[in-house]
Amino acid sequence: MIKRFELILLFIVLSLGTPKAFGAGNAAHGKKLFSEHGCIGCHAVKASAPPMAGPNLAGITKKHKRKWLLEWLRHPNSMKKDPEIIKLKHKFPVSMPPQTLSAQDVDDILAYLKSAK
Ligand code: HEC
Repeated sequence: MIKRFELILLFIVLSLGTPKAFGAGNAAHGKKLFSEHGCIGCHAVKASAPPMAGPNLAGITKKHKRKWLLEWLRHPNSMKKDPEIIKLKHKFPVSMPPQTLSAQDVDDILAYLKSAK
C-alpha cells in the first residue's frame, strides 16, 4: 500500500525533477503576449507568410535551444557577439527592440510558437 508521504514525495520529484522543455508554457497566453508586446508587427509565425521586418519564426524552437531563446528575449545585450545574431543583423536593417518579458512569459511565447505552424 502506498503511504501518503510516499505520494507527496513522488509529487515533489515529478514537479521539480523534470527539466523545462518547449511547450511547458501556456500557448494561449503566449499568443496574447505575442500580440501585446508587438512581436506580431515584425515577425510572421507561419512558414508560408510573406517577409516582414524581422525573421520568420516558424520552426524557431527547432532552430535554437530554449537557453538561447531565453537569453535573446531577456538579455539581448549579452548576445551582441553571438554568430547567429550577427548573421541576422546583416540580414535585417531594423534591430529588434529590447523586451521586458519574464522567464514565464518567454516560456508561454515559446509554447505558442511551437504550436503555430
Ligand atoms: C521592431 C521589430 C521587432 C519586434 C517588435 C520584435 N522583433 Fe524579434 N527580431 C527582429 C529582428 C530585426 C530580429 C533579427 C535580429 C536583429 O536584427 O536584432 C529579431 C530576432 C528575433 C528572434 C531570433 C530569430 C532567429 O531566426 O533566430 C526571435 C526568437 C525573436 N526575434 C522573437 C521576438 C519576440 C518573441 C518578440 C516580442 C516579444 C519580438 N521578437 C519583437 C525584429 C523585431
